[in-house]
Amino acid sequence: MRVVTLIPGDGIGPEISEAVVKIFEAAKVPIEWEIVQAGAHVMEVEKTPLPRAVIDSIEKNKVALKGPITTPIGFGFRSVNVTLRQTFNLYANIRPIKSIKGITSRYENIDLVVVRENTEDLYAGIEHQIGDVAAESIKIVTKKASERIAKVAFDLAIKQHRKLVTAVHKANIMKLSDGLFLDCVRKIKADYPSIDYHEQIVDAMCMNLVMNPQKSDVLVMGNLYGDILSDLCAGLVGGLGLVPGANLGDEVAIFEAVHGSAPDIAGQNIANPTALLQSSILMLRHLNLSSYANQIEKAMMAVYEDGLYLTKDVGGEATLSSFTEQIIEKIIK
Ligand code: NAI
Ligand code: MG
Repeated sequence: MRVVTLIPGDGIGPEISEAVVKIFEAAKVPIEWEIVQAGAHVMEVEKTPLPRAVIDSIEKNKVALKGPITTPIGFGFRSVNVTLRQTFNLYANIRPIKSIKGITSRYENIDLVVVRENTEDLYAGIEHQIGDVAAESIKIVTKKASERIAKVAFDLAIKQHRKLVTAVHKANIMKLSDGLFLDCVRKIKADYPSIDYHEQIVDAMCMNLVMNPQKSDVLVMGNLYGDILSDLCAGLVGGLGLVPGANLGDEVAIFEAVHGSAPDIAGQNIANPTALLQSSILMLRHLNLSSYANQIEKAMMAVYEDGLYLTKDVGGEATLSSFTEQIIEKIIK
């Protein structure tokens, strides 16, 4: 049995994690969960939202599935999510955005991947106050991180038989930082003659994604644009309840949904577990357990195609648990 760290998280995290655990049990996936707790709910006892035990577990197991964690605004500690990405140098955030048959959305046949740089940009956390009149946040762009993420994007294009990589930027305004990013992507591009390459300014990219999302293939960009565009892309295929993510480094991989802890619907048994389940499917492929990944994916897609047990966020009336039960029934029958 392969041991994998599971961080249920808070808000809807525990409910959607439980759904994934049950589905894995039904599919007899040969992994054993090591469950560790992180987030605001452990603050009182642990004095930190990210206890040492969580870091140690990920360090040991190398692979984790993570539920969403609420980031309190203010309070003096930084986001657990950002800290995890920096601690394990998870420099690539991969977010596949794919239409699901059975969901009524404005578009069909979307199949693109957002490749987001995950360690720097305005997320480097370098901020300061200038008296009480201003505040500054510093945007960091390095050659090393930009070339590394470009390589991830082109390698992914090759591996997944994709044709086009588009670099998303705002180098017309941020001539030095985004300019350096573009230079780095162009340099890496030269090693991949079989892949087409475009560049697009981020605002125009937003418009094109909304008008013609099927034209996009692999999109590579810095941290902030990646954060924003991945939520936009989630909206194109039916919402945040659907879209998975992988945070990859050279040693460690943490899989998590794009969405947050959804406090507005937590504890009501109505959240959609699909995004976390799809993240767990990416995780199974990463662990070379593709037959289990395919089996679970097939069952989930069949429930969507039937259309009878969809959760509220995608226009249905089913609860989180009845949607989960339907997937389990497809797996065990
Ligand atoms: P959110 O993603 O939690 O929610 C946005 C909207 O989408 C809400 O209306 C929510 O109900 C809905 N939604 C999200 N996931 C859903 C699901 N699985 N099923 C059905 N509906 C779903 O974003 P929000 O409200 O801005 O953030 C809440 C908290 O989560 C914040 O503290 C934020 O910092 C944190 N967050 C954590 C992330 C992580 O752990 N990786 C990522 C994004 C936000
Ligand atoms: Mg986000």
